[in-house]
This record gives sequence, C-alpha cells and structure tokens, in this order.
Amino acid sequence: MNHIIETQQFNREWLENEFFPEVIKMKQRPKENSLNSLAGKEMISFFYEPSTRTRLSFELAMKRLGGQVVFSTENAKEFSSVAKGEIIEDTVRVLCGYGPDVIVLRTDQAGMAQRAADFSTVPIINAGDGDHQHPTQALTDIYTIYSERGRVDDTVIAMCGDLSRGRTVRSLAYLISKFSGIKIYFISPEAARMRDDIKEHLKENKIPFEEVADLREIASGVDVIYDTRIQEERGALLMKYGKTAFWTVNQEVMKMMKEDAIVMHPLPRLEEISPEVDDDARAAYFRQATNGLYVRMALLNMILG
Ligand code: ASP
Ligand code: CP
Repeated sequence: MNHIIETQQFNREWLENEFFPEVIKMKQRPKENSLNSLAGKEMISFFYEPSTRTRLSFELAMKRLGGQVVFSTENAKEFSSVAKGEIIEDTVRVLCGYGPDVIVLRTDQAGMAQRAADFSTVPIINAGDGDHQHPTQALTDIYTIYSERGRVDDTVIAMCGDLSRGRTVRSLAYLISKFSGIKIYFISPEAARMRDDIKEHLKENKIPFEEVADLREIASGVDVIYDTRIQEERGALLMKYGKTAFWTVNQEVMKMMKEDAIVMHPLPRLEEISPEVDDDARAAYFRQATNGLYVRMALLNMILG
C-alpha cells in the first residue's frame, strides 16, 4: 500500500533516483500528448479545509494522466456527514467501499491522515493534516530547491513565519535533513517557534540550526528564504505576535540576498512577502506552485500507474 502520510517515509535515494526524474518527465511531457497511464483509475478528493493549490493540482494531475476525479469536496466539514459528527475511520471505510483507486485527504487535525490510512484499503495521500504535516507540499518544495539550484546539498535555508503551526515547514525540515551541507535558520514570533520534535530530529541527524530574531540578520548568507503566513485558522492571532516586519521579504531584504538565492512560500502569502518583489527573478514561489502540479502527476503515476 502506497500511502503518503509524512515525509519521514522517504529517503534520499528514492528522491534522487526515482522521484526527481519522474517529476522532470512529467514537466517535459507536452500537455496534449496524454500519457493516459491512469485511464480507468478513480480519485476521491476529500478536503475538510479550503485549498486552491493542493486540491486543484491533484485533480488536474489525475485528469492529465487520463484518470477521473469521481468525487471532490473542498468543505467536507459542511458538505459531508462530517457535519453530523461522522468520524474519519467510518468515512474512509465507506469511501473505500465505493472502490476508488486513491483518496486525497486534507483534514484539520494532526494524525487524521494516519487514522484514515489505518482503515483504508486504497492509498491515502495526506494533503495536509492540521498542524502536523503536508508531505506533497514538501516534495514540491524539495523538488523546487533541486530544480532552481541544481542540487539540494549545501543549502542554507531560512524558515520564517508560523513555525509551530505551519505544517509545510515541519514536513520540509524532515525532508531536507536527508541531504548534506544543510544549515537552517528559524525566524518566527516567540509564540510560533519551531517545536521540539523537529529540533530533536535535526539534532539526531546532525543538521545545524539556529533561531535568529530578524531575517535581515542573515539574509545575505542564505540560499533559500522559505516564508510562511501566520496560521490564524489554527488559533494563531497576528495581533498577539505584533508585526510581521522581522520576517517580511521586501526590497530591503532582496537587496541583501545573494544573486542566486531564491524566495519560496507554500502560498497563500499575506503581508510577509511584499508584492514589490514578485517580478524579481529570485522570487520562486509561483514557479514552486506550478511545480506542485508536476510533483502530483509524478506521485499519482508512481502510485497508480
Ligand atoms: N497552503 C499551505 C497549507 O495548507 C500553507 C498555508 O496555508 O499557509 O498548509
Ligand atoms: N500550498 C497549499 O497547500 O496551498 P492550498 O492550501 O491552497 O492547497
């Protein structure tokens, strides 16, 4: 069973020898030249939380590979029997009974993707489970670093924003720790610092990390700025943290950055990336979002093809 639940499940060999080449294959394939490798395959996309990129790119990926999206909801908490209190285990057993080939699942609580997988007879793809993980975003992120920089090794990365509730930084921290020459700076409000489980993992894997107070202190020395928004829907109140100025990417920060450094963001961005930097070639976040489509095509093709 090929569930995708968390990024600890991947290793460097798989990333480099199987995953990156498959993404490149998907990227190079002309749109009209359909592979049709997933003809007859069915996806259910079941989202408890809103999504623009993850849901739409998974569904488009399925269609571009000749498969079908048989059911899709973006608000399962309201438009499914989750609203009546149905638990994930029961929902998944029922969905599996309809015979889909894969279920893409976004939930609002940590651990729900694993709970679903425990009861599923088809692959579960975690499209984000609360403040826990977002593995397909992290796969998109690691591929983006690889394609923008030519390698993942020897990357100095600043992870900024809501590091305690942001699931993308957590997944990416696990994934990037599989490479060598990595250094991580964490920049966040005091009440949104990276949690100890990730710090322990980095220590165990001998990945140096440092918490710094202001992005501008280290902007000139990093290869990647990975910015994130405050996760207000998870109870993080921006007012409580004060201003985002100390991790905002603006012209001042861009001037400090190296010529070949890049700015990433899982999106949606709020005020932590000023639109004035969008036209800078180093602003990689929209290319990163596009990569998400090819990453999801690659994953579906590898799991179902
Ligand atoms: N879209 C990402 C997520 O769902 C990041 C975010 O929403 O801030 O985790
Ligand atoms: N990056 C990301 O997961 O975006 P969505 O929440 O729009 O899917």
